[in-house]
Amino acid sequence: MNKMAENLMHALQYSCYGGGAAGLKHVEVPVPAPNQGEVLLKLEATSLNPVDWKIQKGMLRPVFPVKFPHIPATDVAGEVIKVGPGVTNFKAGDKVVGTLNHFIGGGLAEFAVAKESLTVARPPEIPAAEGAGLPIAGLTAHQALTQSAGVKLDGSGKQVNLLITAASGGVGQYAVQLAKLGNTHVTATCGARNMDLVKSLGADEVLDYKTPDGVTLKSPSGRKYDAVIHCATGIPWSTFEPNLSANGKVIDITPGPRALLTFAMKKLTFSKKQLVPMIIKPKKENLDYLVKLVKEGKLKTIIDSKYPPSKAEEAWAKIMDGHATGKIIVEP
Ligand SMILES: NC(=O)c1ccc[n+]([C@@H]2O[C@H](COP(=O)([O-])OP(=O)(O)OC[C@H]3O[C@@H](n4cnc5c(N)ncnc54)[C@H](OP(=O)(O)O)[C@@H]3O)[C@@H](O)[C@H]2O)c1
Repeated sequence: MNKMAENLMHALQYSCYGGGAAGLKHVEVPVPAPNQGEVLLKLEATSLNPVDWKIQKGMLRPVFPVKFPHIPATDVAGEVIKVGPGVTNFKAGDKVVGTLNHFIGGGLAEFAVAKESLTVARPPEIPAAEGAGLPIAGLTAHQALTQSAGVKLDGSGKQVNLLITAASGGVGQYAVQLAKLGNTHVTATCGARNMDLVKSLGADEVLDYKTPDGVTLKSPSGRKYDAVIHCATGIPWSTFEPNLSANGKVIDITPGPRALLTFAMKKLTFSKKQLVPMIIKPKKENLDYLVKLVKEGKLKTIIDSKYPPSKAEEAWAKIMDGHATGKIIVEP
């Protein structure tokens, strides 16, 4: 192998907006070099998130314009190969979990550069795939519960009645488990095939979203919700409203134009019931906390399926389909 070939890596990339799974091409590209504050990782697992295909579709163009060609995916577990200038917390050989910059991506490749500031150590007892599931999905669940819904995960505080929609999905599975570390009563929605799984994650009651009660979101025990961690899409405010307690709020993690309008209306009319649009702000200390919970056996990653990089297009089609149970992983 000549020097040139040694510095190339296999990756999947797309070169324009749209195209879905067929838009991903297998390519050989140079191994990236870590800059100031960055680490170069040999990737051991990458998890996909719906935002990955939404970026490809151009849906987030105002916020996330992409420079083509683009290697998608951000949530990774791997081994540090090299550290850039100024990196003090990691050295070659360290096992880590991290989330890559959404503008740059890089997760569907053999190697990727990650910011030290969004990378945490991964203890040996956590398999790469379990770790790679955590960043976006786990941190979104954590932020929605702790910041937006005010749940204290140490179990202190008064009981909060929660509804978690799409509890079988990437975010929902973590939300149920994290919520039950706090003083909460959790009603969860999912499809019939996942009701036992969601119960096993700790949900107190589970609704099949395709049944009449599931459609109306009525708690089987008659509770009103203090907060809804809304991980599904397409449910109007009018469905939530009668199920909320006096100061109940819906934390919408996929806020479209209709949700933003409701948010504005509720604010303007000083409504006690609120819709809260939420966008994740990843924080290293929270990722560290999630990794610690996994190590302690208090949190786990449900894995929908694993694909080798040679079949990453199938993983892409699966995340676009929107019916994963837990996380979809690409693993060499
Ligand atoms: N705001 C942010 O920063 C942020 C961060 C992360 C994710 N998100 C967004 O949050 C949403 C969820 O993400 P995710 O990773 O959890 O998605 P996901 O893993 O693709 O969710 C799939 C799951 O949702 C279930 N589901 C679909 N519609 C449902 C409904 N009406 N009621 C109950 N369950 C339903 C599916 O069950 P079946 O297969 O049985 O249909 C499936 O198990 C996405 O729109 C994503 O873009 C936003």
